[in-house]
Amino acid sequence: MLRTTTCGALTISNLGETVTLCGWVQKSRDLGGMTFIDIRDRYGITQLVFNMDDDQDLCKAARNLGREFVISATGMVVERSNKNLKIPTGEIEIKMTGLNVLNAAKLPPFLIEDETDGGDDLRMKYRYLDLRRNPVRNNMVLRHKMAQAVRRYLDAKDFIEVETPVLIKSTPEGARDFVVPSRMNPGEFYALPQSPQTFKQLLMVSGFDRYFQIVKCFRDEDLRADRQPEFTQIDCEMSFIEQEDILNVFEGLIRTLFKEIKGIDLPEVPRMQYSDAMRLYGSDKPDTRFGMQFTELNDVVKGKDFAVFDNAELVVGINAKGCAGYTRKQMDELTDFIRRPQIGGTGLIYMRHNEDGSLKSSVDKFYDEASLKLWAQAFNTEPGDLVLIMAGQKDKVRKQLNELRLEMGTRLGLRDKNTFSALWVLDFPLLEWDEESNRYHAMHHPFTSPKPEDIDMLDTAPGEVRANAYDMVINGTEIGGGSIRIHDRELQSLMFRHLGFSAEEAQKQFGFLMDAFEFGAPPHGGIAFGFDRLCSIFAGLDSIRDVIAFPKNNSGRDVMIDSPATIDQKQMNELKIRSVL
Ligand code: AMO
Repeated sequence: MLRTTTCGALTISNLGETVTLCGWVQKSRDLGGMTFIDIRDRYGITQLVFNMDDDQDLCKAARNLGREFVISATGMVVERSNKNLKIPTGEIEIKMTGLNVLNAAKLPPFLIEDETDGGDDLRMKYRYLDLRRNPVRNNMVLRHKMAQAVRRYLDAKDFIEVETPVLIKSTPEGARDFVVPSRMNPGEFYALPQSPQTFKQLLMVSGFDRYFQIVKCFRDEDLRADRQPEFTQIDCEMSFIEQEDILNVFEGLIRTLFKEIKGIDLPEVPRMQYSDAMRLYGSDKPDTRFGMQFTELNDVVKGKDFAVFDNAELVVGINAKGCAGYTRKQMDELTDFIRRPQIGGTGLIYMRHNEDGSLKSSVDKFYDEASLKLWAQAFNTEPGDLVLIMAGQKDKVRKQLNELRLEMGTRLGLRDKNTFSALWVLDFPLLEWDEESNRYHAMHHPFTSPKPEDIDMLDTAPGEVRANAYDMVINGTEIGGGSIRIHDRELQSLMFRHLGFSAEEAQKQFGFLMDAFEFGAPPHGGIAFGFDRLCSIFAGLDSIRDVIAFPKNNSGRDVMIDSPATIDQKQMNELKIRSVL
């Protein structure tokens, strides 16, 4: 070892010891007779002191050290006169007797400090320097601890970690595949897995009984703060279970993580039907850190000649408590917010329940005081409350009001990052109508089992069929989802038929799975958690980028290694790829 200890270890109990530290120069201060250097490694910072009176050459060498030089420093641990009690090593310093420059360093393009001056792009380009900073490295340490805790929990419950292949054939999970050309099979492509879904089901057929994997998945979809083209799942599958068993085992995992990593006793995770989540929050991933549930008003507001309400499929609103005093400008901001193209609302109607008890709406022309009293009753308002109402086509207006609810939650400070509210959302619809392709798609994936009691509706009312599918949501983020699977060839074929696959197509794409179902497939089901999302919630971060060592930017680029990149003609020729448009 080039060092005897680390830069975070020495305290007053080490006084008098001769030590050698290795690390990077954090900063240096030259006070004429004395030079102070802070040396940093992963474990902490220690102050080195060089005295002109003791050794002139050494002191001069210290003065020549630049920021981020890599050094090895030898000296004696002494008590500091000027103590810094904010850091563990702040009561001591090292009186230097030897210094070695292990490597010089160029001036870094941004400050390697907790508060840096580097912008996003620059820090991404020099990610290896950004990773030297405590907040960034701490996120990686957190991620490591979480991965270890996941393994401990699942191992103790008899789960076996199995690696599944990365070069596979497309699995239909709804996103586009990344594909890899095969040199040995010209014109043919592998696909990178969107998840190991079919493999984990095959492992159940193999009798593995309980499988897990912390695994990279790849999806070529538009990026957002909680999406990366390559991300990590805690992927799990179990045999001989029912939905209830999966919910219990994996609620246990999440609660164990909260306890072990954050010291938080997460209460039992409440459960909500998908249909209730949509009705009360307009979202299948409601942020339940705060209430502000939707109130539907069709029965209360229709028939007063107000066309916007009369013509709407759904009139629905929220009670923003304490906001009756919102100014005209604040109301305009909210209207602008819901009219943003991403949200697509047309208008916002409000009613103030003033402090003096009076009710005042933006549509007083149509609704007299007696009518507004009914509104107030429906929303259970108190003086000081502001009711915000939207109207339109049911699904659209729910989505829009969901955005407004979240915005109001943020404005009212109800979305504290240190508060955690988990929720199971159950009984998702099996199928979802897709306007673009004009057919039903599997809402989760095609291997998800319909609820046995709903199977008969597959022909008559496919959109009404519920699935044995569940999501876990924390603070409004979908952190995991799974289902009980189909394990019967007939039912799986029926599903493919309803998804618009011909028998030949189904056999070509999924013959391997359906064949396997004929060799003794046990009843099985599973779940996958978005590991990056889980880590970012635990770290209190807005973006999963910050818990990934080398993430991609919003255009899916790694600006550090400059990827994706063109390949040379020789490689193209080998792959028999003629030209790129
Ligand atoms: P699903 O598609 O719901 O299910 O994915 C599981 C979880 O993975 C996370 N996730 C993502 N995280 C970051 N970036 C992305 N692009 C991204 N896409 C998904 C989410 C999500 O809840 N095979 C099924 C699971 C199963 O049925 O067992 C599956 O992949 O947190």
